[in-house]
Amino acid sequence: MPNDRTRFLTARIVRNEGRGEIFYRIEAIIPEPVRFVPGQFAMVSGWPGNDPLLPRPLAVFRSGGSKGKGKIEFVYKVVGRGTALLSGLHPGETLSLTLPLGRGFDLEQEGRSYWLVGGGVGFSSVFPAAAALGRRRARFEMFLGARTRGHLPPKEWTPGGKEPGRIHLCTEDGTAGYHGRVTDAVLERMKGLSQESVERLVILACGPREMLREIAAAASERSVQAQVALENHMACGFGVCWGCVVTVWDGDQTAYRRVCREGPVFDAREVVW
Ligand SMILES: Cc1cc2nc3c(=O)[nH]c(=O)nc-3n(C[C@H](O)[C@H](O)[C@H](O)COP(=O)(O)OP(=O)(O)OC[C@H]3O[C@@H](n4cnc5c(N)ncnc54)[C@H](O)[C@@H]3O)c2cc1C
Ligand code: FES
Repeated sequence: MPNDRTRFLTARIVRNEGRGEIFYRIEAIIPEPVRFVPGQFAMVSGWPGNDPLLPRPLAVFRSGGSKGKGKIEFVYKVVGRGTALLSGLHPGETLSLTLPLGRGFDLEQEGRSYWLVGGGVGFSSVFPAAAALGRRRARFEMFLGARTRGHLPPKEWTPGGKEPGRIHLCTEDGTAGYHGRVTDAVLERMKGLSQESVERLVILACGPREMLREIAAAASERSVQAQVALENHMACGFGVCWGCVVTVWDGDQTAYRRVCREGPVFDAREVVW
């Protein structure tokens, strides 16, 4: 039976491969299965030596397993030293993991329909939510945005990808799907919705901050509930250093919340954009 308490684990890498132009997927064996809420993350390291010193946060992409043996998967994009070192690890080498961390998406609302919005590598938090909603047979559509076709997530990673109409691909250069930003596709589609559909809608989004800010503004304008997964820089990952804070509204005042502890998923209305 998988459990969801946070723990430190040593994992053995079984696969670490590049896919498409910019993404990697790493799969590792862990001593026991982990249960996680979509949007929760792990602090990950494994490179030799102490440079960089700190592990890096990655959303838990998939986890499974049985009988005392678990499996864990992450997808990532190389942006700096930590992720570059991660991409150089080989099967048989180990990863150090602390997981599951943070607060994930609230997917337990009856009678709702969901729009999942992933910008860039933000699909890594959104796909697990799609898989969970698919298992519950909840209604959802996905909007995936990238600069160009080669920067969209590979088809074989997409949950529920075979059902037409459920996935809206968007590219800024028009090489696949909707020609424009994913936020524009969401805004256009929202304009056509009846009041009844708007009231049922919940938006779950992960991506660059500017994308989240625009989604939050559009959702607020039509009183749609939106949950955003923030990707702030992190140091400890479990609430001690206050290095990851975001400013939120607390009544008329503002306050700080730790993205690693009270987030990474926040109600979009709470965040001071
Ligand atoms: C909760 C959470 C979940 C995440 N999930 C994923 C995931 O599933 N897959 C994935 O590829 N990435 C994910 N990220 C982002 C990932 O943690 C960073 O890309 C990574 O830490 C960069 O480390 P680095 O050493 O390679 O780059 P650094 O050398 O630390 O940075 C390189 C460049 O990237 C920028 N950068 C670093 N971290 C971030 C960040 N968090 N947001 C925006 N820019 C950043 C830096 O400013 C710098 O310009 C997540 C972040 C958080 C907080
Ligand atoms: S990263 Fe240390 S408190 Fe969030």
